[in-house]
Amino acid sequence: MAIVLGIESSCDETSASICIDGEIKSNIIANQTIHAKYGGVVPELASRAHQQHIIPTVNQAIAEAKIHKNEIDAIAFTRGPGLLGALLVGTSFAKAFALALNIPLIEVNHMQAHILAHFIEEPKPSFPFLCLTVSGGHTQIVRVNDYFDMTLLGETLDDAAGEAFDKTAKILGLPYPGGPLIDQHAKLGNPTAFKLPEPQIEGLNFSFSGLKTAILYLVRDEVKKAPGFLSERIDDLCASVQQRIVSILLNKLKRAALETGIKQVAIAGGVSANSGLRTGLHELGNQLGWEIFIPKLEYCTDNAAMIAIAGYHKYLVKDFVQQDVTPQPRMSV
Ligand code: KG4
Ligand code: ZN
Repeated sequence: MAIVLGIESSCDETSASICIDGEIKSNIIANQTIHAKYGGVVPELASRAHQQHIIPTVNQAIAEAKIHKNEIDAIAFTRGPGLLGALLVGTSFAKAFALALNIPLIEVNHMQAHILAHFIEEPKPSFPFLCLTVSGGHTQIVRVNDYFDMTLLGETLDDAAGEAFDKTAKILGLPYPGGPLIDQHAKLGNPTAFKLPEPQIEGLNFSFSGLKTAILYLVRDEVKKAPGFLSERIDDLCASVQQRIVSILLNKLKRAALETGIKQVAIAGGVSANSGLRTGLHELGNQLGWEIFIPKLEYCTDNAAMIAIAGYHKYLVKDFVQQDVTPQPRMSV
């Protein structure tokens, strides 16, 4: 039997999870609400909140899995990418706990873990498959050759997809994080009400900064003409923005699938919660004969279950790190 404790602290969620023989037994997530009033994650405040949350979160994960801490066989933690101060809290805690329990330490790449969340529950994809990872910090199309053998096919040149949602929401006067709110308003609006540009970027890379500027100018000009524009047209604005972000993502994903000939297609990361993206992916998949994989919502946004499952697969091949390991804010997939 292998019991792995996973710890995630790369951004603004402190999370701990217990994985027993590849099965997730607990996944505790402490969200940080303090950032909402600043309109985005404040790194220093995130680090302090991690420091406060980490022990209760780990204790709860252990209790919910109905094990004793002395039964844990290894500790997996997010080494990067992420905010340095936030990563330091999880890394230092994992190192100290592993030292105290005299068990191995396992480093996990957060972007790989988002993808490996697909191995928590059935149906699980088989290798190779394509994964579109869309979060607040990243937008990537990855060819997944094996658990820890991944090829980056394309990524964003500027904003991430989640950032595009959040920054647009800010322009529209919605609070942070705006992605889920845009999704809600979009359900009530007309996606063809406003014409927004689709950037022409070579290959499989993405760009969202032009879209953000287009929305900024559209809102500025229309509000000049009619001060009530934003509140009257918020649903149509959200629907149009969401439709464009989704089409930018899906057109590149379609191209990646055609170029690689791979028909197993997955999405991961917080933005995969978006209803427009989910519907669009299903429609495209039906057209092109894809098999589609979308993790459960709690495994899409940042969570430690994905760190624990990634850690479990490293545990099986004894891929451990030493006590001199340090966090790495930048890490490629
Ligand atoms: O993966 P995640 O939880 O954290 C990062 O690693 O960034 O992703 C958070 C991002 C935020 O930008 C949030 O606005 C976006 O995911 N998001 C959504 C939805 N739910 C979360 N964006 C659009 N529609 C949603 N339903
Ligand atoms: Zn993430």
